[in-house]
Amino acid sequence: MSSYQSFLNHIPPMGIYETLYAFKDSFGRFMGEEGTHPWSQGFPLTTPLEKFGGPELPASVTVTWEDRFYPKAWGHPELREAIGDYYNSQYGSSITPENIMVFAGGRPGIYTVMAFLKKHVKVRIGNIEWPAYLDILTNTDTAYETVPFTKENNFHPSNQEYFDRSGLEGGTGLMPIISNPQNPSGQTRYGEELNALIKMAEQPGNGILLDEAYEMFHSPSVSGIEYVQDLDNSNVFLAGACTKGLQSPGIRIGWIIASKANIEIMANYSSFGMGGVSHPSQHYAVDLLEPNRVKKARKAVEEHYNWQRERYGNAFKEMGLGVYTGNGGFYHWLELPEGMNSDELNKRLFKNGAAILCAFDCDMGRPHSKDPRYQSPYDRFFRFSFGPLLPESFESDIQLFREVYEAYKRDVGVE
Ligand SMILES: Cc1ncc(COP(=O)(O)O)c(C=O)c1O
Repeated sequence: MSSYQSFLNHIPPMGIYETLYAFKDSFGRFMGEEGTHPWSQGFPLTTPLEKFGGPELPASVTVTWEDRFYPKAWGHPELREAIGDYYNSQYGSSITPENIMVFAGGRPGIYTVMAFLKKHVKVRIGNIEWPAYLDILTNTDTAYETVPFTKENNFHPSNQEYFDRSGLEGGTGLMPIISNPQNPSGQTRYGEELNALIKMAEQPGNGILLDEAYEMFHSPSVSGIEYVQDLDNSNVFLAGACTKGLQSPGIRIGWIIASKANIEIMANYSSFGMGGVSHPSQHYAVDLLEPNRVKKARKAVEEHYNWQRERYGNAFKEMGLGVYTGNGGFYHWLELPEGMNSDELNKRLFKNGAAILCAFDCDMGRPHSKDPRYQSPYDRFFRFSFGPLLPESFESDIQLFREVYEAYKRDVGVE
């Protein structure tokens, strides 16, 4: 026996990765390899969406001697410019490069905002949300409270619930974190509802971290920036990335849009904690955002994923599952009949080379470290991802799901 003891505190991996490891243990292969069905995974297709006229994705970038310099802490000037132009032309905003900080993907930006929150700021977060938030909140020691997500409120609580101050000490800063469109439910705030949310977030003492990773997966695409009145005097933080809509999770480019003062704080952190972001990746992102290309890409993303959302949703309804999905994103939010649970469903799917994400992992009310005494209210719910699925796999994916689901139903005697 080794007496080795790590100097590091133990931390578990994010829930989705735990599903991946459990899958590998059961099926003997990594999820994503040939012959597997990545319904648990949150990545988009990384090839052109041909059926809907999706453009090619850039195949290379040029790297010059200047690119071997250290990057700027806040991001490459060309990329900050391109991101600003993208939002301003799409949403009628007037942000400047000083309102934008580039990160190596969506997660580092979100993590950085949480890491530097003042102690009087309290986060409000939906009872179900993207699993990584729980890890980020816990590891940054951020104070948070959950907002109910139930069948009764259709997994779409009102804006007011995020900003309710009853029982709060005076002087508390309130900072909802909302993914919009939401991961895992696809519920989306847009139009007047989003306008009202941003108005609340701009009130003194309030703020928001609106995570717009799925901005393009809604008709029409949706960003809170459209409604921000005075970004530089606010604690509004918008998170974006090339990860989903721009179909490039591997290039690791994301950004935060915020007041100039908040961007400066994050850039100061970058100067000692991050050292900026890879120039080749930032050049790649500039090419992705080229106005003509991005126009075609967003149209294709919107149409392709609307189509997939609808036909998968219909198939799940037809099987008798509860479908609680909103109008955005690339996930279905589903409920099994009474007498079944998503953990058991997953174990059966693993044996067939498939996996879903159990709602337990999205439950922000659960203890971060596993506690066998905790009973999640969502144990019959799960998230099905159609993000990485090719159009031609629809029939076989549904057939496989149906077979495993029907066999499970028979075994437990559910009608
Ligand atoms: C809600 C949400 N925000 C942000 C991200 C972006 O993650 P990253 O760019 O770090 O891969 C994801 C990806 O799964 C997500 O689901």
